[in-house]
Amino acid sequence: MAHIVGGIATSHVPAIGRAIAGHLQQDPYWKPFFDGFPPAQAWLDKVRPDVAVVFYNDHGLNFFLDKMPTFAVGAAPQYVNADEGWGIPTLPPFAGELDLSWHLINALVAREFDVTTCQEMLVDHAVTLPLKLLWPEDGPCPMRIVPVCINTVQYPLPSATRCYKLGQAVGEAIAAWKSDARVLVIGSGGLSHQLDGQRAGFINKDFDLAFMESLINDPKWVTQYSNEELVEKAGTQGVELLMWLAARAALPGAVRKVHANYHIPISNTAAGLMVMESGA
Ligand code: DHB
Ligand code: FE
Repeated sequence: MAHIVGGIATSHVPAIGRAIAGHLQQDPYWKPFFDGFPPAQAWLDKVRPDVAVVFYNDHGLNFFLDKMPTFAVGAAPQYVNADEGWGIPTLPPFAGELDLSWHLINALVAREFDVTTCQEMLVDHAVTLPLKLLWPEDGPCPMRIVPVCINTVQYPLPSATRCYKLGQAVGEAIAAWKSDARVLVIGSGGLSHQLDGQRAGFINKDFDLAFMESLINDPKWVTQYSNEELVEKAGTQGVELLMWLAARAALPGAVRKVHANYHIPISNTAAGLMVMESGA
């Protein structure tokens, strides 16, 4: 059976793509952000995953407001990055892991998650930038991936409780996958940020840090909040933190924090990073 090596949750911001392309890692603005990643890369060298299941939210590249699935799972041989309009250089296609895609889709539908299956799927900065930050070498990403997309763009959004249950179901399905692959779970989104409206630039450090801690000590803590309450506490785009929740829920049992970083702001966003491993 497949083995889940652990999980990594991280924020995504388009400007990171431009910073990588411009080699700005040592720039005073960017350094506290990029300095968070070498410990995560060192941990990856140790646990050596073959496949990454990536919980992320699309931002209008693959799905637009006319057709918006609540949950969508990639089942494509490769995932192509495309120009999404932020001036980010596009990255080479990412290899899929079809056997795991269909295994997850079958398991999720059997558990009453009626997911949209995507045999073609463009991936935006929410998939590409975490992978680039974790595997910064030139050339294609060495991971095979299965993207799992959660709608955070158009109401109604799935509740935190529903995202937790989705994550649990994904984790249990990975653990039941007949493969000797080593699987990493990634959650890409958040933390607190709001890109528009009167509260544009809103960040809530206290809430973010409480949320990060809760994933280790009390992972269902954030499910006490409705999405409206999450928007109030974390900003309109802060609800992307649901990706962290789903990734945590996919990890079996208690988890320990291997590494964390939190830096504000990157663009409009509170940039967080957390590496988690099962086993307290
Ligand atoms: C920003 C953050 C995001 O999560 C996103 O998807 C786009 C932009 C930002 O802070 O600029
Ligand atoms: Fe986003």
